[in-house]
Formats: sequence, structure tokens, C-alpha cells
Amino acid sequence: MAAAALLAAVLGGGLLLIARRYLTGAGRASRGAAAALMRGKTVIVTGANSGLGRATAAELLRMQARVIMGCRDRGRAEQAAREIRAELGAQAEGGELVIRELDLASLRSVRSFCQRVLQEEPRLDVLINNAGIFQCPYMKTEDGFEMQFGVNHLGHFLLTNLLLGLLKSSAPSRIVVVSSRLYKYGEINFEDLNSEISYNKSFGYSRSKLANILFTRELARRLEGTEVTVNVLHPGIVRTNLGRYINIPLLAKPLFNLVSWAFFKTPLEGAQTSIYLASSAEVEGVSGKYFGDCKEEELLPKAMDDLVARKLWDISEVMVGLLK
Ligand SMILES: NC(=O)c1ccc[n+]([C@@H]2O[C@H](COP(=O)([O-])OP(=O)(O)OC[C@H]3O[C@@H](n4cnc5c(N)ncnc54)[C@H](OP(=O)(O)O)[C@@H]3O)[C@@H](O)[C@H]2O)c1
Ligand SMILES: *[C@@H]1O[C@H](CO)[C@@H](O)[C@H](O)[C@H]1NC(C)=O
Repeated sequence: MAAAALLAAVLGGGLLLIARRYLTGAGRASRGAAAALMRGKTVIVTGANSGLGRATAAELLRMQARVIMGCRDRGRAEQAAREIRAELGAQAEGGELVIRELDLASLRSVRSFCQRVLQEEPRLDVLINNAGIFQCPYMKTEDGFEMQFGVNHLGHFLLTNLLLGLLKSSAPSRIVVVSSRLYKYGEINFEDLNSEISYNKSFGYSRSKLANILFTRELARRLEGTEVTVNVLHPGIVRTNLGRYINIPLLAKPLFNLVSWAFFKTPLEGAQTSIYLASSAEVEGVSGKYFGDCKEEELLPKAMDDLVARKLWDISEVMVGLLK
């Protein structure tokens, strides 16, 4: 009886592992050639202390880039940097890991982060807009924006605009935007961007991720002819801290952990498309496209609506105070 149970467990475990490899193995940024391209380059990764951002920062450090970790909590960022250096050991040599405070829920913080970067950095080769917040209860940013729209879209909107001059003077350079497949359930409801009439946390997340894609398309259009490219990606489903606001009943936890271990990507697997778009020669000159598993993917029509994209851009400029 016990032996049969053990056998079933082993077989089941094996099958899970195979399924996992099959489901999550696709698409990998090839390391060698890309690594040579990143040596000595300066990269900013927002939210680099956790999950996908941390894995992205570590891989770019391994490729000998100067990686600026834009993080809201210095303590958490320092700990992540220590761990990354310890994990890489001698492979961290040649690159640099720099911590700079950046709270995307505060326009003041975004502005002072950019001011410091513009003062200290002679060049910026890649900006990775990675930080994100997922399905939180109704909260507002320092400037009164709904939190998910404020952090995922507006904070990065201001950040990118303030760094655009440096990216242009460093061209060819790249912007990489981390969105999500959940954009499909979003909509840009211009009449209630701060969710003051009604708040639905799933809708709020999806709306912010749709905004990431529309932002990318409008920015790509504005950057035509500059040798600054911008592309957007979805990472798949990845085991990170993103689900911190989701309550899983205690009894369901073991099952959730098993499913996430079996079917979710590791942060390093999930970060492959970010790393690819930041470093691969294959996407040189490619702009305004949507990627998953290191391959271009199709978008729903609502994410290709150039009128909505332009209107969102104009309203965002006013909201973050770029246009009075
Ligand atoms: N995990 C997935 O399955 C998945 C799927 C689709 C898309 N994504 C996207 O992937 C990106 C990375 O998420 P993740 O999965 O790696 O989650 P994560 O482990 O929670 O990392 C998110 C990062 O964003 C930072 N962040 C949150 N609010 C911030 C703020 N106001 N200012 C500055 N930084 C802030 C977090 O900082 P703290 O550590 O200080 O909170 C953390 O470093 C997000 O844009 C997310 O939407 C993830
Ligand atoms: C909240 O939004 C999600 C995604 O947009 C939608 O599927 C769901 O029905 C909404 N829930 C409510 C209560 O309106």
C-alpha cells in the first residue's frame, strides 16, 4: 500500500516535472553574443529587488553591464544586491550594481531619481520598466492617482519621458516595458482613470497593463528615426512576490504551492524575454512590438488602437505635470 502510494507520488512528480519543462521551457535569450553587447553598457531596472526585476538585474550584471537598481526601499535593494553578488561570485566581476531610490508612487521621487541619473550618468543604454503592483485594495499614490494605474503606468510614463533625452544622446538605445497578458481584460475608461466612481482591482491591474502596451506603441511612433527603440512583453506566469495582496485560504495553500512549483516559471525563466529585448542583436532596430517567450506575438485590436493610445498619452502628460 505504502509502496503503491510512493510509486504514484514519484510517477506523478515526474510527470509534473516534464509538463513543467514543456510549459515553461520555451524561449531563452542566447547568452554568449548578447553578453558581449552588454559589456560596459548602463541599464536601469525598476523594481530590481524582487522577482523578475531581480533576475533581470542579475543576468545583466553577469553580462558585465552597469546595472542601476531603481527601488523604493533601500534596505530591500541592498539585501538583493548582496544576494546577487554572492550568487554570481566571480561572474559578477566586470559589471556594476548601483542602488538608487525610486518610488513610482511619488512623482517627486521619480523626478529626483531622474535628476540624479542625469547628473551622474554620461549615458543610458537600456531602460527596463519592470516594477509593478498587482490587484491591491483601493489605494492612492502620493499624487492622488489610483495605485495600479499610478505605479504601473503613470510613474513609468514620467520616468521614461524625463530620461528620453539621455536615451537619445546614447542611441542606439532601448526601452523595455513589462506588461501582462491580463491586458486583455482591461479598458482605458477615460471618465474614471482614478477609479473614484468604482474600483475593481482586477480591472485596475488589466487597465494599467493595457496602458503599458498603448504607451509603448505611441512612444515607438514618436521615436521613429531616433535609433531609440521601445518594445513591450508579457513574462508568462512567474513565481514572484507579485501576488502579495491575494489571499489564499490556509487549506488551499499546499495545493497552490504545488501548482505554482509545477507550472509557474522561475523568475529567471520569466525574465528571459526582458533580457532578450534588452540585449539581443536579433531585435536591433525593432520597435513598437509585443513579445512573449522571446518571440513577437499578436495583440488584440484594443491594444493597437492608436487614437486611444494618443489620447492616453495626452492625458498622462497632464496628469504627471509634463504639460500644464
Ligand atoms: N509574476 C507574474 O506572473 C507576472 C505576470 C505578468 C506580468 N508581470 C509583471 O512583471 C513585473 C514584475 O513583477 P514581479 O512578478 O517580479 O513581482 P514582484 O516580485 O512583486 O516585484 C515587483 C517589483 O516592483 C516594485 N514596486 C512595487 N511598487 C513600487 C513602487 N511604488 N515604486 C517602485 N517600485 C515598486 C517592488 O518593490 P518592493 O519589493 O519594494 O515591493 C518589486 O521590486 C510587474 O510589472 C508585473 O506586472 C508579472
Ligand atoms: C472586475 O473586472 C474583471 C476584469 O476586468 C471582470 O472580469 C469582473 O467581472 C469585474 N468584477 C466586477 C464585480 O465587476
